[in-house]
Order: sequence, then C-alpha cells, then structure tokens
Amino acid sequence: MDADEIKRTVGFHAVERHVRSGMRVGMGTGTTAIWAIRRIGHLIDSGALTDIVGVATSFQAQFECERLGIPVRSMNDPAIDGSLDLVIDGADEVDPKRYLTKGGGGALLLEKVIAYASGTVVIIVDEQKLVPRLGVSFPIPVEIAVEARRSVQKRIAALGGASDLRLAERKMGPVITDNGNPILDVTFTDEFDPVAMERDLDSIPGVLANGLFASTPSTIYVGRQDGSVTAF
Ligand code: 5RP
Repeated sequence: MDADEIKRTVGFHAVERHVRSGMRVGMGTGTTAIWAIRRIGHLIDSGALTDIVGVATSFQAQFECERLGIPVRSMNDPAIDGSLDLVIDGADEVDPKRYLTKGGGGALLLEKVIAYASGTVVIIVDEQKLVPRLGVSFPIPVEIAVEARRSVQKRIAALGGASDLRLAERKMGPVITDNGNPILDVTFTDEFDPVAMERDLDSIPGVLANGLFASTPSTIYVGRQDGSVTAF
C-alpha cells in the first residue's frame, strides 16, 4: 500500500469502529485525519449516520466538513457546551508509553482543547509515526503570543530546548496559526519526561499550547504497509 492508502484505511477503520449516530465529534487535522472526515461525510450522505455534529480542530477540517455537508459548530455552541463524545485525529509521533506529539500541521491549540474535552480520543497514524522517544523525528511545536517570542525562547533554552520560529512557505515571515499566533519548533538534545515537559512548557507566560500530549488517548490505530490496522 502507498502512504495515502494506509492513511485512508486507518481513517476509515476508526470511523467504522467509533462513530455512531447522534455523536458530537471532534474533526482532526492532517493528511490522515481528513480520511476520517471523508468517511463520516460519506456515511452521512448514505444515511448510515444521522444527527452528527462536528467541531473542527482547524480551518482545514472545517472547510472539508463544509465541503461534505457535515454540520460544524463551535465548542462554545450550546449544542456542544465545551465537551464532545469523540475526537479522531492524527499525530506526528507516538512513543512506547502512548504519549504523543502533535502540531506538525500547526493546529495544536484547538487539537489539544478538543482532545482534552472529548470522552474518547482516537488517534490514527501509520507505523512510521511510532518512535522510541518523543522529539526524535519531529520538533515539539509551541504556539505563543507574538510579544512573548524572545522571553519564551529564553525559558525554553533554560529547559534544554533550542527553538526556531516556524517559517511560512509561499508567504514571507512566520507561519501564523488559525488562531493568529506564531509557532516555535523546539528540539531537545537530551531525553526528557513528556509529562513534566508538557507541564513546564505550559507554565511559561506567553505559551498558548504545546504539542506534547502526555495524557494518553483511548485508542491508537496504526495503519501498516500490508494493509492491516492494529490497535496500540
Ligand atoms: C496537525 C496535527 C496532525 O494531526 C499531525 O501533524 C499528523 O498529520 P498527518 O496525518 O498529516 O501526518 O497535529 O496539527
């Protein structure tokens, strides 16, 4: 299977196992999560799913839901009231303890709000996302307030991290998230404790969210090259 087929297979698998009529569902971001959105759209279209209300983790997810006719609400809408039944989302890395990094697509702030507000968190990845420790193949993204850039970078350096402002492609200057903020991509040379580091990064004034997800998901589905999907 090629990479896209693996993403589609794992995305469809998660929807078929977890999405039921009447659910309030968080719609994840990325090239894997978009297949879950497409499957939900198809099942609504065929009448197999009814009364689904989605909350999007990004403009990407929102626009795909709109394209497919999936109703989308805000987390603050009375029909949602700040909590969801389920979210299906991708990840950049998964370690042996099932801790994650997310935010490669810049949607970490809402992805974290929605994951931590969902009764069931389903993560869908391909096997290349399984790593021995977090931060080895992707830097840790940190969304910050513009004015706090230098002070946050100094605090991150004190925690042992080197940070780079994420730069945009096909636009001069930084990536600006859907929430209007820049992102620092942080690399750590030394091994770190994800639980403590998630907390330490969050405690820096000016940090709005970081891409460490040390609260483990309900289920992680891993799509493999032979077409199989395993739960981890
Ligand atoms: C976006 C994310 C994505 O879920 C993560 O980057 C994985 O994306 P993909 O499935 O395209 O590899 O966290 O902010």
